[in-house]
Amino acid sequence: MPGQYPLTIPTFLQPLIQAWSVWIMTTFFSIPVAFFYMFWDFPSWLLHTVLPEKPKVILITGASSGIGAELAKTVMLTLCLFVFYGLERLQKVEDRCKNNGANVEILECDIANTERLITILNDFDQRHPIDLIFANAAQAGATIDDEHKKRWEDSWKRVMAVNLIGTVTTIMTVFKRMKGRHRGQIAITSSIAGYFAAPQMCYYNATKSALNSFGRDLRYLGQSYNVKVNVINPGFITSQMTLDQAQPLALPAFLLANPMKLANVIKWQLDQNNDLITWPFWEFLPIFATNTLPPRVLDTVIFVIGRFWGYFTKVGDRAFT
Ligand SMILES: NC(=O)c1ccc[n+]([C@@H]2O[C@H](COP(=O)([O-])OP(=O)(O)OC[C@H]3O[C@@H](n4cnc5c(N)ncnc54)[C@H](OP(=O)(O)O)[C@@H]3O)[C@@H](O)[C@H]2O)c1
Repeated sequence: MPGQYPLTIPTFLQPLIQAWSVWIMTTFFSIPVAFFYMFWDFPSWLLHTVLPEKPKVILITGASSGIGAELAKTVMLTLCLFVFYGLERLQKVEDRCKNNGANVEILECDIANTERLITILNDFDQRHPIDLIFANAAQAGATIDDEHKKRWEDSWKRVMAVNLIGTVTTIMTVFKRMKGRHRGQIAITSSIAGYFAAPQMCYYNATKSALNSFGRDLRYLGQSYNVKVNVINPGFITSQMTLDQAQPLALPAFLLANPMKLANVIKWQLDQNNDLITWPFWEFLPIFATNTLPPRVLDTVIFVIGRFWGYFTKVGDRAFT
C-alpha cells in the first residue's frame, strides 16, 4: 500500500550490521573450528607425506600449455591422455613426457563438443581405467581483436561452453565411472578469480565461482564412493592466458608466478587429498579475505579495482561490451 514500507533494516545501518555479523562468525565459529582442524588433520598429513599414493593412469585436459603442460611433466605418469585443441604445442609436451619414461596418448577434442567428449572419455576409460583426472582446460574470455570484433553473446556462450559445460561434462563422465569402481581422484582447476577478481573478467569469474561451488559439493558426494575431489585455485600464473595482451586476464610478467612450482604444489597436495589447493598463498589470502568483506564494503572495493583494471590493461572494459 502506498505510504507503507516493509519492516526491514534501514539502508544506512546495513553496512554496520553486515560487518558485525562477519566479526561474530569469525571470532566465535571460524577461529575455534580452524584450531580443531589443525589438530585433526595432522596425523593424515603426516601419513600422506611419508607414504604418497601414486596414480597410474592420469588424464589431463588442456595439457598443451601453461599449467596443464607443467602438470603433465611433473606427475611423471605411467600413462596419460591429453584432450586437446591445438596440436603443435601439445606434441612438445608429449615428447618431454616420453623422454621421462611415460606412455602418452593424445586425443583431439574441443571440450565444448560434449557429445564427442563423452565418447572419447568413455572409450579411454574402458581401455585404461583413470586413476586421476585434471579437469584443467579453460579460456579467459573475450579476446579483443579489433579487426574481427566479437559480439558479447558469442564470447559469453563460448566461455560458458568451455569452462563450465565442457569441464563439468569431463568431470561427471569420469566421476560416474569412478563411482562404479569405488576408486579415483578428480582435480578441478578453478581459480582465485572464483572468489574475487576484476569485474572486466566477469564471464570467466562466473564460471570459476560455479566450479568452486560444484567441486566443493561433488567432494561430499564422492566420499561415499571413495572418489576424491579436489579444487585447485591458482593465483596469477605465467601461461598463454596471462601473457596474451589481447585477453582480459593479461598481466605484466613480473606479477606472474611459475607454473612448474604450482604443478609441484598441486602434486604434493593431491597426495594429501586437500579439499582446496592454492598457490601462491600470498595471492590467495588477500583475495579470499576480500571476498569475506561485507557486501556494502565489497561494492566499493570492486568499483576501485574495476577502475584500475580498466585503466591499466589493454582490453579495458571493451571485452564485455
Ligand atoms: N594462468 C593463470 O593465472 C590462472 C589462474 C587461475 C586459474 N587458471 C586456470 O588454469 C587452467 C589452465 O590455464 P592456463 O593458465 O594454463 O592457460 P593456457 O596456457 O591458455 O592453457 C589452457 C589450456 O586449455 C586448453 N583449451 C582451451 N580451450 C579448450 C577447448 N575448448 N577444448 C580443449 N582444450 C581447450 C588449451 O588448449 P589449446 O592450446 O589447444 O588452446 C590449453 O591447453 C585454466 O582452467 C585456467 O582457468 C589459470
